[in-house]
Amino acid sequence: MSGPKKLFIKTYGCQMNVYDSERMAEALGAEGYVATDTVEDADMVLLNTCHIREKASEKLYSDLGRLRPLKAERPDLRIGVAGCVAQAEGAEILRRMPLVDLVVGPQSYHRLPAMAKAAEAGEKTVDTDFPEEDKFDHLPERPKAAVRPTAFLTVQEGCDKFCAFCVVPYTRGAEVSRPADRIIAEARGLVEKGVREITLLGQNVNAYHGGGEGGDWTLARLVRALAKVDGLERIRYTTSHPNDMGDDLIAAHGEEPKLMPYLHLPVQSGSDRILKAMARKHTAEQYLRLIERIRAARPDMMMSGDFIVGFPGETDADFDATMELIRAVNYGMAYSFKYSARPGTPAAEKPPVAAEIADARLQTLQALITGQQRAAQAAMVGREVSVLFEKPGRLEGQMIGKSDYLHAVHVVTDAAPGTIARVRISASAPNSLAGQIAGR
Ligand code: 5AD
Ligand code: SF4
Repeated sequence: MSGPKKLFIKTYGCQMNVYDSERMAEALGAEGYVATDTVEDADMVLLNTCHIREKASEKLYSDLGRLRPLKAERPDLRIGVAGCVAQAEGAEILRRMPLVDLVVGPQSYHRLPAMAKAAEAGEKTVDTDFPEEDKFDHLPERPKAAVRPTAFLTVQEGCDKFCAFCVVPYTRGAEVSRPADRIIAEARGLVEKGVREITLLGQNVNAYHGGGEGGDWTLARLVRALAKVDGLERIRYTTSHPNDMGDDLIAAHGEEPKLMPYLHLPVQSGSDRILKAMARKHTAEQYLRLIERIRAARPDMMMSGDFIVGFPGETDADFDATMELIRAVNYGMAYSFKYSARPGTPAAEKPPVAAEIADARLQTLQALITGQQRAAQAAMVGREVSVLFEKPGRLEGQMIGKSDYLHAVHVVTDAAPGTIARVRISASAPNSLAGQIAGR
């Protein structure tokens, strides 16, 4: 006997996948698999994939190609593909890459242990159903040792928005919210294991409408209930759609100190013409007014966003409107992407913007965002912020944590992971801040 079976998971894409990978590791843990960081050691390799842009999808096939020699050397190595490429391409993956043993979509992870067993017996399986049962009811609880001071907690999955460029409504399916009591119980369990900060996850998290005591719960109600959990100190949520930013959620930002002052609210474009073509169902002006209301409730709110440049039909004037919106909002952080045509989405039918133009726009936009990001960080110097320490830093005696505004902060301290301290910020580097303890 050569010891426990070893599992290597590679996670691509969003935080939802990070959460799912952890749940899959636990589900296979119950079957005797332990995690390994080295693919050469693994008995099973699981690739948890992302389909959002073409580049993300292609990574799967290049990584599978790289696994070929390993599989040739050790034919009993099992290879699984999970996530959104699995959902979108299903059995096609087996046809294209015969070295794959199992393909499992995001709604079927609770069936993974049985699929792994089948794979061990030499049988190939594909499961991309949207089953009736709730996968979360069938996934095991998180083991204590694995828990860090911050955790993700999926509260909602799927999306009904059908933005013209996006595959999520197809790969993750319709919006489904988990019942509030299950989420609160999971949060309590995490806090007992040492978690201090929870990020509530959903593709459209602020569209959360879960069943709870007294009927339908909004995200605001869920946040307020979670804020009552002793020992849970910080709550965040991502990703939100502007049209689902309810009054009660905005009010919660002003009233609930545990709700952190950082909001990821993608707008994608600042041009009304493009927003319309994207089927975003809001204008640039409506987005700006919304941010005004959010900042009226919480003046120090750090805004974050997503942008797509080179959407079909985007002109220089449309792009200028996006730049103008970015200047008006002043983001603390933002992600930007060159439009990528995704098969099956309405926008993929339209003639694309020339690649050189899209590349140039992306560079221009990223320079503006980087400037705003640096300025937001530099503005922290001299201020006192709260920092949740997560892990030791690279230097002796140093800890790394996150501020309320999600900046990485380096501090020399003997504080243990999970401690929250007041820190006076003394310096700003390109991607992090440094400071000294001002109090606990
Ligand atoms: N091309 C480029 N970017 C995309 N996104 C989603 N679909 C596409 C696409 N087809 C971006 C959006 C979204 C983020 C998660 O990814 O900005 O908010
Ligand atoms: Fe995709 Fe977000 Fe639009 Fe839903 S709201 S379709 S996840 S971009």
